[in-house]
Amino acid sequence: MKHLPLFFDLGGRRVAVVGTGLAADRRAELAASAGAVVQRFDTASVAALKGAAAVFVATGDLERDTEAQRAAQAAAVPVNVADRPALSDFILPAIVDRGEVVVAISTGGASPTLATVLRGRIETLLPERFGALAQLARTFRAQANALIAEPAARRAFWRRLVDGPAARLALGGDEAGARRTALGELDSARRRLAPSGIAHIVGAGPGDPDLLTLRAAQLLQEADAILHDALVPEAILRRARRDAELVSVGKRKGRPSWAQADIEAELVRRVRAGQTVVRLKAGDPFVFGRGAEEVDALRAAGLPVTVVPGITAALGCAASAGIPLTDRRHASAVTFVTGTNAAGQDAAWPSLAARGHTLAIYMGASEAAAVRDRLLEAGAAPATPVAIVENGTQPDERVTAGRLGDLPRLAAAHVSARGASGPSLIIVGEVAARAAALAPQSLAEVS
Ligand SMILES: C[S@@+](CC[C@H](N)C(=O)[O-])C[C@H]1O[C@@H](n2cnc3c(N)ncnc32)[C@H](O)[C@@H]1O
Repeated sequence: MKHLPLFFDLGGRRVAVVGTGLAADRRAELAASAGAVVQRFDTASVAALKGAAAVFVATGDLERDTEAQRAAQAAAVPVNVADRPALSDFILPAIVDRGEVVVAISTGGASPTLATVLRGRIETLLPERFGALAQLARTFRAQANALIAEPAARRAFWRRLVDGPAARLALGGDEAGARRTALGELDSARRRLAPSGIAHIVGAGPGDPDLLTLRAAQLLQEADAILHDALVPEAILRRARRDAELVSVGKRKGRPSWAQADIEAELVRRVRAGQTVVRLKAGDPFVFGRGAEEVDALRAAGLPVTVVPGITAALGCAASAGIPLTDRRHASAVTFVTGTNAAGQDAAWPSLAARGHTLAIYMGASEAAAVRDRLLEAGAAPATPVAIVENGTQPDERVTAGRLGDLPRLAAAHVSARGASGPSLIIVGEVAARAAALAPQSLAEVS
C-alpha cells in the first residue's frame, strides 16, 4: 500500500486552493462539500497558507505548481498538486459519495483513469440511498446496545438492520417504514422471536433482461422466493439467486392459474415466515398489474413491502419498434388503456379518439374488432395508423403496421402466422406510421 487511506474531518477548517480553472474549481467544491472554509489564491505566499488544514494546488503550470508546493511545505501544511503525485503529500482519491457512506479509491497516483473505471463499477453496485443505512444504524445504536444483551443476538440484529427488510425500505426511500420495521425487529430480538421477512413487488420490464432496473436485479439476487407472472421470460428468471424458490403464479388466458386472493395469501404467509419474497410482475407492477392489491394485502397484515417500478410494455414496445409515444409534430398526449373492456361501454373511448393523441392498448389484440369499432364510433379516421408489437423487446419480437380500419385483420395475422400469439400491444395514432416506415416488410405481409 503506497498511501494510507484516511478520512479527514475538514468541518469549519480553512482549506487553501491555489490556481484557477476546472481542476481548481473542482477541488474547491469538494473541500466545501466536506464543510471546509475555502480560500482561493492565484499564487500563494507562505504567510497566506499558514494555519490552513490542507492546500490544493492546480495552476496547470509546472513552475507555478512547484512554487505553491514549496510555499505549502514552508508553511508546514499538507499539500496536493493536481496531476503531480511526486509533488503531493496526499493524493485525491476517486470518490463514490453516498452521504455518510463514502468509498475512496486510489491507484497510488499511477492511473486516475483506472480509479475512474473502478469507481464506475462501484457506483452501479451501491444503491443511491446507501447512506440512509448509516443514518438508520445511528438511530438505533443506543437502543439496540441497551436492549439486546446477548452479543450473538446483537450482531444478528445489526446484520439484519443493514442488510434486511428495514435496509431495503430505507434504500427504497421509505424511511418511516424502515424505522417501523427496525423497531419491530428490535422488539423481536429482545423477546427472542423470529422476525418477519419482506415482500418486494417488482416490475420485470417487457422481457429483455437488460431492461431490468438495477434494483430489480439486486432483489432477484436476494430473494428467498420469487412468485412470478407467466409472462416473465426464462431469461429474466435465470437472473435469480441460484437457490431461490421459483413459483409461477401466472395468469394466462385460457389456462388455470392462481386466484388473486391466493397470491396475496401466499405472499403474506411467506413474509410472516421470515422470507424475502419478490413478486415479479411483467412490465410495471402498477400498470394493469394489480400491484396495488398486493401492496394493500401486505399492509393490512402489517408486513413490510416495497414497490420497484419496471419498464411498462408501452415504453418497451414503443422504443423497440421505433415509435415515439409523443412527438411534438404528431402527438402531444398518450393514454395507456386496456382493450379488455372495449366490448363493454365503460371505457372513456370517445375522449381517446382525438387526433394528436396516441393510444397504447394493453390486452387488446383479442378484442381488436371491438377496439376498432369503439374508436371509429368515437370519430377516429379509419386511415389512422396502427402498429401491433408482439413479444416486444424479446428475441421473437414481431411488429405489424397498418390502418385502424384493418385492425382485426392485422391482429388475426399475428395469431394465424404462429398458431398462438405472444403478448401484444396495439399502438394507435399518427406516430404508429413510423413502424411502417421502419418495418415495411411487415406491412406488406398483411396488406
Ligand atoms: C396484465 S397486462 C400487464 C402489463 C404490465 N404490468 C406492464 O406494465 O407492461 C398484460 C399485457 O401487457 C402487454 N404486454 C406485456 N408485455 C408485453 C410485451 N413484451 N410485448 C407486448 N405487449 C406486452 C400485453 O398487452 C399483455 O396482454
